[in-house]
Amino acid sequence: MIDFRSDTVTKPTAAMRAVMNDAPVGDDVYGDDPSVNQLEQYAVERHGFESALYCSSGTQANLLALMAHCERGDEYICGQQAHNYKFEGGGAAVLGSIQPQTN
Ligand SMILES: Cc1ncc(COP(=O)(O)O)c(C=O)c1O
Repeated sequence: MIDFRSDTVTKPTAAMRAVMNDAPVGDDVYGDDPSVNQLEQYAVERHGFESALYCSSGTQANLLALMAHCERGDEYICGQQAHNYKFEGGGAAVLGSIQPQTN
């Protein structure tokens, strides 16, 4: 049974937890995390971008995307049920000065 309500209701299997437990880690700010480096390189090759940035949460990724595409005072169009409108604490408005437009 696959639960499509949200990615966050999916629970990792024991095999997934074992991989996470054994993954080499390091300080990502210094580029010392081989797991993050490998994931970002994989994304670059798979999607053909110049570079990639690992985001540790969906909320963070959504906020970075909005702030990369919008200037202060811009609006972004989204649905009234959109996750970033309903569940992300108004981060775009609070941190990016970007107004959600749901109509
Ligand atoms: C569509 C969508 N966007 C963003 C998020 C937020 O992700 P996170 O909990 O990793 O911040 C979720 C989480 O359920 C989501 O379902």
